Amino acid sequence: MKNFEKSNHKVKRIAWVLLVLFLIPLALSACSSGKEETKAYTAIVSAMDNEVELLLGEAKIERVETIADTKYHIGTLCEQPVIITKAGIGKVRAASCVSAMFNNFPVSRVVFTGIAGGVRDDEQVLDQVIATKLVQHDYGTLTNEGFVWNSGDPGAGYNGGEYYECDEHLTALAYQAAVEVVGKDHVFQGTVATGDQFVASASYVKKLDEDYQALACEMEGASVAIVCRQYEKPFAVIRALSDKADGKAHKSYGNFGDTAAQNSSRIVLKILEALNNEATA
Ligand code: ADE
Repeated sequence: MKNFEKSNHKVKRIAWVLLVLFLIPLALSACSSGKEETKAYTAIVSAMDNEVELLLGEAKIERVETIADTKYHIGTLCEQPVIITKAGIGKVRAASCVSAMFNNFPVSRVVFTGIAGGVRDDEQVLDQVIATKLVQHDYGTLTNEGFVWNSGDPGAGYNGGEYYECDEHLTALAYQAAVEVVGKDHVFQGTVATGDQFVASASYVKKLDEDYQALACEMEGASVAIVCRQYEKPFAVIRALSDKADGKAHKSYGNFGDTAAQNSSRIVLKILEALNNEATA
């Protein structure tokens, strides 16, 4: 009897030890995934390396995850949880990068940062454009009479085409941040036109101004806007002018691209500081 009690006690002790060994890792993993889920990241997205390198240098990166050849740098910047990623150039890469991000990480908002070609005569290289809405200028039908913008969807929005509105609050923060970085006289707010072309044509620039009242042209913004709208995420698009999208665009882009990209990054830092102030107020 004594022997039976002894072995029963031993079995119980082993059962307890096994239970504890099983439960500890379970509890730890629940804690860490819970922490991950409650973190809502501000995503900072660009097309090219020079548009995020200043931010990556300032950020405290905890880990890097690669999804479909795109690297997502996860960490903190200005005390805010951030994901910094370079999507690549053009609408397809930008849309793919942002949708993969939404499907894999808890993202609360998106700030797209980078450079663009200026459209209007009163703008200068290194001025800053803050988008209030975006449009795909190359979406439409090629007819015998030429290109007809978005003619397949005549009921949708302005001019038979679609414009994608940016988040008002994030855009207001971006405007204020841009004024602080480059000065009020160098900040413009309005429509940004997106297409899968580097625009280096004075006549096409005139068309972007007349047909879409665009302030700047670039190659990703509207596609990011569409995905953000699908996933109901607020977004802002900030662009520094590296060129005037005319015959001298390539040379100007070569000379001013890096400086323009860095200006936009500095504005992102100010936006994050403002978001941090809001969060801690
Ligand atoms: N990004 C910078 N300059 C540009 C231009 N001229 N056209 C399209 N994207 C640009």
